[in-house]
Amino acid sequence: MDPEGPLRKDGRIFTRDKGDGKPVYGENLLEHDGFIYREWIPWRSKLGALFKKREDVPGLYGNILYLGAAQGTTVSHISDLLDDGIIYAVEFSPVAFRKLVAIAKNRKNIVPILADAFHPERYRAMVPVVDIIYQDVSQKDQVGMFAKNATMFLKKGGSGFLMLKARSVDVTARPEDIFNIASKELKKEGFEVEAVEDLSPFQVDHAAILVTLP
Ligand SMILES: C[S@@+](CC[C@H](N)C(=O)[O-])C[C@H]1O[C@@H](n2cnc3c(N)ncnc32)[C@H](O)[C@@H]1O
Repeated sequence: MDPEGPLRKDGRIFTRDKGDGKPVYGENLLEHDGFIYREWIPWRSKLGALFKKREDVPGLYGNILYLGAAQGTTVSHISDLLDDGIIYAVEFSPVAFRKLVAIAKNRKNIVPILADAFHPERYRAMVPVVDIIYQDVSQKDQVGMFAKNATMFLKKGGSGFLMLKARSVDVTARPEDIFNIASKELKKEGFEVEAVEDLSPFQVDHAAILVTLP
């Protein structure tokens, strides 16, 4: 893990670029101490929103299974922060995947995987046991997907970041109720829920549920 985490400057956050020094998704660049940093925009990334809201985000280290990588916006910032380890980035939309592959070409620590994360057995041969699972998919059964992947890949003592979109689970229910139900389901699946952080105003109706596997 980068011991410094993201750089915090004038109320904004940045990661030190490990790519080709160009913006990945239109973000601003900053030169600082002889390095190029990329601004992490909290309206574009739930993990960016979490870092904006909390100073004590659990460390990102080791091997990471990332479910719902899309075009690689958040993946690129995790790639900047990782000292060692690999991000196994799963995405099932071929259009988003093409952009993800282009980003991975400029970096040494991203393995893009075109697959449906509801079927972890299909990428079992490509992914080792991991230290962290990060999930951000707008789907109905987000806890089910997370638990399935954790059973197959997450090591004991590992941690999870479940970015939950309340409206994908139930458009009619109050987001706080959805977050509570999801936390209870995660406990039933054997996880310890360490924190539930509402990501508004950056990501409305979304929460980050942080868990560990005892
Ligand atoms: C909200 S976007 C992710 C944004 C991304 N995590 C970021 O911050 O840069 C959700 C992504 O999950 C993907 N997705 C949804 N269901 C999936 C599934 N079953 N397997 C793999 N990817 C899935 C969608 O195609 C979409 O790209």
